[in-house]
Amino acid sequence: MKQKKIIFNWKMNPESSKDADKLFVFVKKHSNFTIVIAPPSVYLQELASFSKKSSKIKIASQDVFYAPKGSYTGEISVPMLKKMGIWGSIIGHSERRYIFGESDGLISKKIKSALDGKLSVVLCVGERTKMSFNNSWNYVKSQLDKDLSLIQATSYKLQATKLIIAYEPVWSIGGHKTTDASHSALMIKKIKDLLYTRYKIQATTLYGGSVNCQNISSFLEYPEIDGFLVGSASLKEKEISCIINKVNGNK
Ligand code: PGA
Repeated sequence: MKQKKIIFNWKMNPESSKDADKLFVFVKKHSNFTIVIAPPSVYLQELASFSKKSSKIKIASQDVFYAPKGSYTGEISVPMLKKMGIWGSIIGHSERRYIFGESDGLISKKIKSALDGKLSVVLCVGERTKMSFNNSWNYVKSQLDKDLSLIQATSYKLQATKLIIAYEPVWSIGGHKTTDASHSALMIKKIKDLLYTRYKIQATTLYGGSVNCQNISSFLEYPEIDGFLVGSASLKEKEISCIINKVNGNK
């Protein structure tokens, strides 16, 4: 069976770099396959230097801006991340879209800039409220159409390994909302079919939204789900070791 991909999105946690280092060491100690950690940007430099000594951990940013440099207060660029040894960036997370008002137009520029700069992209898409399968798909398809509008199959050499999609129904994010694994598996299949038709790539497509030790087994039953983007649970040692265990096929 193909190794599942795990990305830990720490969001705006933990509070100190000491705690971030501790959590990094814990993940490294317990993982026997490559795990991506997306820490707050203030910890990127240090964790990236730790990760250079280990093939088991890769570091991603939680966002990136499209311009390479200039007057963009608060932003970080693709060249900065590349120079630090960062593997990739989450782009279009629902918290960026709906708390910070990021548009699909902005997200599409960020994706292009990251891929042009050879930074891997984890593009997050997902319907905002609980809705029927058809409506969910129409919502997500429209996001993909707009977010990938600057990526042309013919003019752009797209590598499957560089573009990862995370399907995260927005209503299920937060750490304790139950989700229907079969709905997610079907959505992921549709996303993969679309990317194959358009770019001829088998895009790694993850599920995200309250994934934890208790519910991960129901998602693991679906081979089309290539892995998980984990938020809240990725901050708790017990959850981390349990998730790794279950992904390894242990009951
Ligand atoms: P959650 O977050 O696991 O806490 O629901 C997932 C995400 O927002 O990526």
